[in-house]
Amino acid sequence: MKLGFVGAGNMATALAVGIGEPVLVHDPDRARAQALAERVGGETCSSNRELAERADLVVLCCKPAQLQTVAGEIRGHVAAVASVLALTPLAALAAEFGDDVPLYRLMPNLPVAVGRGVIGYVPGPRAADGPEHELRALLGRAGEVVEVAERDLDAVMALASCGPAFVARFLAELAAAGARLGLDPELAGRLARLTAGGTLAYLDAERIEPAELERRVATPGGATERGLRELDELGFGRAVARALAAAEGKVATS
Ligand SMILES: NC(=O)c1ccc[n+]([C@@H]2O[C@H](COP(=O)([O-])OP(=O)(O)OC[C@H]3O[C@@H](n4cnc5c(N)ncnc54)[C@H](OP(=O)(O)O)[C@@H]3O)[C@@H](O)[C@H]2O)c1
Repeated sequence: MKLGFVGAGNMATALAVGIGEPVLVHDPDRARAQALAERVGGETCSSNRELAERADLVVLCCKPAQLQTVAGEIRGHVAAVASVLALTPLAALAAEFGDDVPLYRLMPNLPVAVGRGVIGYVPGPRAADGPEHELRALLGRAGEVVEVAERDLDAVMALASCGPAFVARFLAELAAAGARLGLDPELAGRLARLTAGGTLAYLDAERIEPAELERRVATPGGATERGLRELDELGFGRAVARALAAAEGKVATS
């Protein structure tokens, strides 16, 4: 199956690299499109129209605000559409491309580039008429495909698609705090990354929940417990909840 990527930005690159197939790509920034095509052994197209005519499935990887423009270029020439556009429901896609075009909403995160992504997946009503099986198989190379009801996709986005940035922010703060304790900043950064990676590997190997890991580290009355109490008192849980609610576009309830 030939995939055609509209846009060659961050998510298009991560997804195409994770899938690891030669793809067609178009981006107004020709150098960006060329770089992605070269990376996966694919080909650039001179327009979205040409891309849509040649691809079995168009993967929309532009910004949501660019949907109308892109749809205007390819409407009537597109076999099936998978969209990674945040906060852009199937109804909006169907309004642009027509009810008869098989549609799929995808909500990936950047670790798809290394085969460790999460891809929220919502098939449209005509999904089975299109290349659904091939699409799911290709996405499976890039990470875990999690099918959800469309009403849950914004929450999946807030947690899993925005999540890598939240985790990255925590790592940066961990390193900065280590440096404030007097560690060399480069060493503090390395320790933060090693600790995060090791923690995830340990959770998986031991098959335990985060709360159990916390219990194993935080001996009563010890250093970790003192640190956790500070996080609680400063509202760490509330801050995380508000970050996700803001990302989802909702007003925080706590
Ligand atoms: N980044 C993430 O982690 C993430 C996660 C989940 C979902 N998403 C979704 O992925 C989409 C892309 O996000 P991104 O972070 O990859 O943004 P990005 O890096 O800005 O990539 C978007 C690309 O689309 C190009 N573009 C603009 N108009 C176009 C057109 N008419 N035809 C073809 N390409 C066009 C842009 O070019 P210009 O820069 O010249 O406009 C840019 O290269 C968004 O809809 C977002 O909601 C992103």
